[in-house]
Amino acid sequence: ARPFAYRNRTLHCDEASLSTLADQYGTPLYVYSARQISHRFQLFETAFANRPHTICYAVKANSSLAIMRLLAQQGAGFDIVSGGELERVRKAHKPVLKKVVFSGVGKQIWEIDAALKGNILLFNVESETELHLLAARAEALNIRARFALRVNPDVFAETHPYISTGLSEHKFGIDIKAARSIYRKAAKSKWLDPAGVSVHIGSQIRKVDPFAAALARVTSLIADLRKDGHDIRYVDAGGGLGIDYGDGPFNPAHQVERYAAALAQGLAKETAHLLLEPGRFIVAQAGALLTRVLVVKKNGAKTFVITDAGMNDLIRPALYHAHHEIIPIKRPAGKSTLTADIVGPVCESGDFFARDRVLPPVKPGDLVLLLDAGAYGMSLSSNYNSRPRPAEVLIDGGKSKLIRRRETIRDLLAPELLG
Ligand code: LLP
Repeated sequence: ARPFAYRNRTLHCDEASLSTLADQYGTPLYVYSARQISHRFQLFETAFANRPHTICYAVKANSSLAIMRLLAQQGAGFDIVSGGELERVRKAHKPVLKKVVFSGVGKQIWEIDAALKGNILLFNVESETELHLLAARAEALNIRARFALRVNPDVFAETHPYISTGLSEHKFGIDIKAARSIYRKAAKSKWLDPAGVSVHIGSQIRKVDPFAAALARVTSLIADLRKDGHDIRYVDAGGGLGIDYGDGPFNPAHQVERYAAALAQGLAKETAHLLLEPGRFIVAQAGALLTRVLVVKKNGAKTFVITDAGMNDLIRPALYHAHHEIIPIKRPAGKSTLTADIVGPVCESGDFFARDRVLPPVKPGDLVLLLDAGAYGMSLSSNYNSRPRPAEVLIDGGKSKLIRRRETIRDLLAPELLG
């Protein structure tokens, strides 16, 4: 069941009333269901239960410490892309460092050093330059580095161009055709342990065939690498499994089963330990952005609903023309509707959540909820227009816990110097 539903005409997150939460914590407010996050994680666990695997949740999707701790307690590892995310893992649940994979095209020395010292599971290396740097740092610190090359399989993922990564025209990964010779060279260094192969073809991918195709190419590379004498123990299938943003029927259990079947098909008889890096699928639908209507105004033929949340709080509609459902907190009594652009207060025409959206009539002071904002919402937020970022609350059944206090103007100005 979806975590956000009406009870007694008021929208709730599980058993917590959203209008009560708005009174208690103010708006804009990110609200997450702990139950839903755990449920999605367990769906993944169940779908892959028949093979050795580790689910390395992609921290970038939602890097809240409380959410990371919740996942770590259930057995998750993490996929990180920066030294900052590594530090988050350490804070959320230190023992889980041994289940961390480190991705990213531009790792810096201090980040590599911190990860080596933390004895993470695997470096996903994205260039020969990085591989040389990793060997040098491993030698300097006297720690052998387990690595996988993130290969670029040249598979089309049918998603938004900004979040597609698996074609040779993209900056990500190493051309799969060049991989074998790079492993051969790397194996000569005693500081490098060629332990796996990784792939990630993009995000918000709804059809599972591209995952099967990409993994089939990886599987055949692994067979070649074994022939060359490398001890490949890990295959990292990346993340990218899509969800529904209000664009049709969606059965998450079924979706993850189809995904697992596609990966199994791609892996054929390969039995290496499977690493998975889901982000969005775990957290997107567990979260929503609660916001209050400030103004309803007409300009010419158009109606604008202006909310206290803006593009700095949730940039997905502006950046990818992403669709987010918007629903009122009070269940509408009648059937009348309004067609409006739902926009934020930021000084940009791109500051919109929806255009020409049909919704029940709303007036200043009303609360509305932007659904499916748990992934790439808060983690992509900014302080543009000197706007303090929202607070975040985690709902556990009927209880709410503040997991990030609202920023203050003082927080924003703290790092600045008058010069
Ligand atoms: N692994 C790697 C190496 C990645 O680059 C990503 C996401 C993931 C895993 C997790 O992918 P997921 O399961 O969440 O699709 N901001 C965009 C999405 C950017 C995805 C970046 N990489 C959005 O809001 O749609």
